[in-house]
Amino acid sequence: MKITIVGTGYVGLVTGACLAEVGHDVFCLDVDQRKIDILNGGGIPIHEPGLDVVVARNVAAGRLRFSTDVAASVAHGDVQFIAVGTPPDEDGSADLKYVVAAARNIGKHMTSFKVIVDKSTVPVGTADRVSAAIAEELKARHSDLDYAVTSNPEFLKEGAAVVDFMKPDRLVIGHANDAQGQRAQQVMREVYASFEAAGHKIYWMDVRSAEFTKYAANAMLATRISFMNELANLADKVGVDIDAVRQGIGSDPRIGPGFLMAGCGYGGSCFPKDVQALVRTSQEYGHELKILQAVEDVNENQKHVLGSKIFAKYGKDLHGLKFALWGLAFKPDTDDMRAASSRVLIQELLHAGADIVAFDPVAIEEAQRVLALDFADAPELLKQISFAADPQAALPEADALVIVTEWKTFRTADLNQVKASLKHAVIFDGRNLYDPRSVKSLGIEYHAIGRAV
Ligand code: UGA
Repeated sequence: MKITIVGTGYVGLVTGACLAEVGHDVFCLDVDQRKIDILNGGGIPIHEPGLDVVVARNVAAGRLRFSTDVAASVAHGDVQFIAVGTPPDEDGSADLKYVVAAARNIGKHMTSFKVIVDKSTVPVGTADRVSAAIAEELKARHSDLDYAVTSNPEFLKEGAAVVDFMKPDRLVIGHANDAQGQRAQQVMREVYASFEAAGHKIYWMDVRSAEFTKYAANAMLATRISFMNELANLADKVGVDIDAVRQGIGSDPRIGPGFLMAGCGYGGSCFPKDVQALVRTSQEYGHELKILQAVEDVNENQKHVLGSKIFAKYGKDLHGLKFALWGLAFKPDTDDMRAASSRVLIQELLHAGADIVAFDPVAIEEAQRVLALDFADAPELLKQISFAADPQAALPEADALVIVTEWKTFRTADLNQVKASLKHAVIFDGRNLYDPRSVKSLGIEYHAIGRAV
């Protein structure tokens, strides 16, 4: 099938490359010439394991191309995926200006029936706005071309996006029940035919329910994490190991084992944004989502949990102390620093006078970029932070090691070596990477999250 993807960000690029991988003829459009140049030069503008190989293979096979040519992109695809950014507005609701602009372009240039697919995470009712924008453009052209807008939210995790796309645990597609909507259903069935044949289930539903499903999934996952973080903070006080509790409850199939890891808070571009957007949607409808407001508050608080533990040990003034910091990205296998807990911790430590030597396997460059913005009002504080080339190099002379991201390489670190390199054998572990008993048996003072054993 001929498919156009509007937006070559994280979602669009993965979607485009993977749909080419299953045999479709894919045209990726972006307004950002720099991104398109990188892609056409054989590069990948984001860090995502395995994506470079899939992109290269499909470009070479002639099934995947990148361009800034709007008219050509609309002409190409019978199916037009909208995968542009939906940054949060100042009040937390999703800003749809890029989505609507993409819809307008389709309305302006289309010359045949099109299926438009909302792939970006968009609030309930967005498909109606997309539809209205296209209708307006067609009316201005005195055209009565048919089209149908569907919703096909993505459930990709950064760092595992290619695998998540190729082997989805479910596909959710919302379409209308009128003639165009049914025609769109047939088209979407063809788009995902190879996935259905491989046994991946498609949940067909109305458009609004599909839009809502995306938010409900992320809100549920964020709720699980905040729930465990709240219990972990109590576990610290009452002498309980939250990780033992996690295993104890996760074995109940009604609860399930995933997304119950306590830590120093969730970050990224999705959970914080989507939880806030759902709360805003509820307010617009005069409805209060009490649990989700609490999920958000607990998470904001949790980003300070490592700082609080550090202040409890050393006091509020950290001048003369040096901390080795392992992990900057909001989670492993990505260089994404959006809403990363490390940013909150770095603010606290530098303002309190501490020195930091930080290491991250891939996010150092991106961290330097965002920290320059975070510290725009106090750039001199950034002299207190430096970056190491490997985990071990961050340790010498440090009064403690602080772990913020659960990279695999940190999990398998030789703790004897860590102890030997540090000035003082102290670890603040924001991701509960180690067994507290074994760490303590090595003579290391260990502060984790909710592991008071
Ligand atoms: C999340 C969802 O998991 C995807 O299904 C969804 O498609 C995506 O958002 C999206 O809406 O685009 P992502 O933000 O890439 O994916 O990251 P996750 O792997 O979900 O991790 C989010 C954060 O939660 C990380 O900071 C991680 O460290 C934290 N986390 C995760 C915990 O603190 N505890 C856990 O048990 C799991």
